[in-house]
Formats: sequence, structure tokens, C-alpha cells
Amino acid sequence: MRRAAAWLADGLLAGAALLLLSASLLALAGPAGSADPGSPAESAALRAAYRRPAGLPEGPADNPFTAEKAQLGRRLFFDPSLSASGTMSCASCHQPARGFTDGLSLARGNDGGELRRKSPTLWNLAWAPFLFWDGRAEGLEAQAEAPIEAHEEMGQPLGALVERMGADPAWRAAFATAFPGQARPVTRENLVRAIASWERTLVSPRTRFDAWVEGEEAALTAAERRGLSVFHGPAGCANCHEGWAFTDHAFYDIGLPGGRVPDLGRGPVLGLERADRAFKTPTLREAIRRAPYMHDGSLPTLDAVLDHYEGGVVDRPTLPPELPRRLSLSAGQRADLIAFLGTLTSPPDAPLPEMATPPAAAPAAVASIPPVARARVSQRGRQFAPLRAALTPGGVLEIVNDDTTAHNIRIDAPELTLNSGIQDPGQTVRWRMEKPGRYTAFCGIHPKMRLEIEVAAAR
Ligand code: HEC
Ligand code: HEC
Repeated sequence: MRRAAAWLADGLLAGAALLLLSASLLALAGPAGSADPGSPAESAALRAAYRRPAGLPEGPADNPFTAEKAQLGRRLFFDPSLSASGTMSCASCHQPARGFTDGLSLARGNDGGELRRKSPTLWNLAWAPFLFWDGRAEGLEAQAEAPIEAHEEMGQPLGALVERMGADPAWRAAFATAFPGQARPVTRENLVRAIASWERTLVSPRTRFDAWVEGEEAALTAAERRGLSVFHGPAGCANCHEGWAFTDHAFYDIGLPGGRVPDLGRGPVLGLERADRAFKTPTLREAIRRAPYMHDGSLPTLDAVLDHYEGGVVDRPTLPPELPRRLSLSAGQRADLIAFLGTLTSPPDAPLPEMATPPAAAPAAVASIPPVARARVSQRGRQFAPLRAALTPGGVLEIVNDDTTAHNIRIDAPELTLNSGIQDPGQTVRWRMEKPGRYTAFCGIHPKMRLEIEVAAAR
């Protein structure tokens, strides 16, 4: 392992950490008592928290978005000739009318056998840093190869598929349109780029909830507005299902019982027992169409989902502090909450929103910050602060867990890999950064957290 620095962790006084924990659990629980969605201050804050983004995030540098690529990707997605049997396309398991799922508890593959997990929704993945229920693929491009080749899914070796398509004039023409100026455009890389480009366009349609966010008070009924307050307040759902897409793209054990052979989810991917049974927080957009629910399809209805969060959580050491314990809702609150979730689903055949990527500008000039010998970074509220650190060669990066939840800080660059292991609240990670360069640190559990690090060249 290329470890350029050792890491050490030290504890704050346990009491101080506990105090921090309880203080911010209160903050997490939100304005429980003041759940009046009519109050202008609360409405304004909620509207700001749930505003839709103006455009798509930029894709990877080697796959800039074009409509032509997305169009080819769409064709590939719906084409059963991509599977070994010739009968199964991506859309067999990711059906648009079912919120890009398939209505089954566990997916069924090319050979008819059950897969280990439920087909997840494909809505709003343009913003997801890691894919699959356990986050084992980084980015849509990396993900797309897997299901075509997976024996039990589509069972088609990509090499053979690409060769067959390359011999077909119709496919050659389609790839040439999507990838102009390339002598041999039918390649494995381009196939994956096209599918990923199309998947980026799958931004869930606007719903009544968005109309309310934009100021149309009457777009939601009183019960639905109360449901939003319950969701955001006492039920604690927004601790994880946050923002306009109702996901923080993080990984949690929410206490599902699981089967006889436990699916350990994120834990084995990170090599961390503490992340066992953690799965990604799904978007709640279009949720009504996506039953049954959860990575194992074990909960048949939204009512069953609420039963789980209220009384079904299996207590074990991997439950995160973000998950409310002993949640108890009144019958009215439950009804309001379910009514609210309904407002996140669009009418049938609602058009996809017109979304463009930001114009491909040169990367904004970032003012350089002077390198220092020791930089200290906070993680409060699941955010690095500051977001950038500049160090002199051999300088020490000190990342403090002053948050209320455990983190796992990683750098995963070709020239440098670092891994903090579990970093509990109160612990500090110190890395001596020897190697000049630019790195991105992220949290394996809450991967939206990003810290840009620059180690200056030796003079
Ligand atoms: C046999 C059913 C099946 C087929 C066919 C299939 N998928 Fe999937 N897909 C799944 C299952 C099940 C998972 C979740 C697997 C896991 O998390 O381990 C998944 C996961 C995904 C994810 C990750 C979603 C997320 O939330 O992270 C994407 C993206 C995806 N599939 C796209 C595709 C594409 C593109 C194709 C066609 C090339 C395809 N799938 C074909 C069943 C299928
Ligand atoms: C600790 C973070 C957390 C909290 C709090 C939380 N969720 Fe979840 N939610 C998740 C995760 C993670 C999953 C996926 C779990 C799995 O499949 O193992 C999930 C799954 C779901 C699903 C199923 C989605 C699908 O595509 O299968 C629904 C619906 C849902 N949550 C609603 C809620 C509601 C309503 C609340 C509040 C009562 C809530 N959640 C609170 C993290 C959370």
C-alpha cells in the first residue's frame, strides 16, 4: 500500500464528545414543537432547503455531455440485443413506469434466477458520487459495464458485444454520430460513455411539491404541508433524505432485519465493520411507483416503511446517530407524512425537465491559498470546513471529528491512498503530507464531503 503518511487518532474527553453528540442530535431532530408549516419563517427555510438545481452537474472530464451521446445511450438502454438471451434490456429491470425499478423484491436475471438485491431507481443519479446499493462503483461510467457482463444479469461479455456491434452498419452509424471524428467509434469505452450520458438526463420530473417550493402556497394541501413538517421535524427523515432529491448520497444501517445470510453492504466495500449493513440513501422522488422498498425489497408499502422506522429497527452497534430511536408518530402524523411523500411523485408521463450542463467553461480560477505547515479542518455538520487546505511539503493535515457521527476519511488517488479507518466523534486524524500534488479527500460513509488538498512543490 502506498502510504505516504501515517495517521494517528486521539480522543477528546469522552464527556465533551457526548455533550456535542446530544446537542446536535437536538439540532438534527429539528423544530419539533414548532411544526407549523404556515409560519412564514419555517416555510421560507424549507423552501430554500428543497430548491431544485438549475442544471446538471458536470460529468467527468473525459465524457463531456452531448445530446447525441445521450440519444445513443437511450437506444442501448432499451435494446434487448445487449443481453445474452436477446430478451433482456436494462429497462427490463429499470422500467420507467415503475420509477426505473421492476416491482420485484429481488431482481431476476438473464437466466431467470434471483439476484441478491432489488433493482434500485435510476432517478437523479447524476449527483451520486458512488453507485450500487453498497457504493462499490465510482461514477456512472464505471457502473455501466457491470450489469452487461454480470453473468446473472445480462450475461454478455462486453468484448464480444462490441465486436458484434462494430460489424453492424446501423450501430456503426449510430456510434459515429455520437462520437464524431473517431475512426473506430464502436468501443467498450464509448458504449459505457453513451449509457452514462443518458442516465445523467434522468432527472425526476417536477411535481406539485416543486410548485410549492417556488412559492405557490395552494399547490399542497394542509395535510401535505403538515406531512413535510413531520418529515423535516420530529420524524427525522431529513437527517438523511435531504435536499431537493431527498438523499444525502450517504450510507447507513437503518436496522432492517435482513435474511439468514446477512448482506453486509458498504462494510466489506470499505473494509470497515462499522459500515456493515449500511446501504445508500435512495432518492424519495417518484417513490410511490417503486414498491417494494429497500435494498432487499423487504417492505411492500410506504406504510410498512413507516412501521419499520417506528417499531421495526433492529438495535445493533452499526446503527448511526442520524437514525432516530424509538420514533413514535400519531396516526395523524403518519397519514400526513404519507400524503406528503405522494407529492414527490409526478403524474404519469410527466415530461423530463429540460436540464443542461453548465457551459463548458475553463475551470474557474481558484485563488491560491498560501501553504502552511499545519492545517486544521473541521467536519461539523457532515461538511469539511474549510473546503480547501494548502500545505508545505511534509506539512501536517489535521482533520478533527467535531461532528456527531463517525467518518472515514480517504484519499484514493493513483499516486496516494490514505484511509483513516473509522474516525469517531472526538478523534483527530493527522496526516503528514510529503508528496507534492493535488488530492481530494472524501468520507467513505458520507461521500458528498470533499476536501481539496494542495501540497506545494519543494523549493
Ligand atoms: C436483471 C436486472 C437488471 C438489469 C438487466 C440491469 N440492472 Fe441495473 N441494477 C440491478 C440491480 C439488482 C442493481 C443493484 C445491485 C447492487 O446494488 O448490488 C442495479 C444497479 C444499477 C445502477 C446503480 C443505481 C444506484 O442507485 O446506485 C445503475 C446505474 C444501473 N443498475 C444501470 C443499469 C444499466 C445501464 C443496465 C443495462 C446495461 C442495467 N442496469 C441492467 C438490476 C438490473
Ligand atoms: C439514518 C438515515 C435515514 C433516516 C433518518 C431515514 N432514512 Fe429512509 N432510507 C435510508 C437508507 C439508507 C435507505 C435504504 C436502506 C436499505 O435499503 O437498506 C432508506 C430507504 C427508504 C425508503 C425506501 C426507498 C427505496 O427506494 O426503496 C423510503 C420510502 C424511506 N427510506 C423513507 C423514509 C422516511 C419516511 C423516513 C422518516 C420516517 C426515513 N426514510 C428516515 C436512510 C434514512
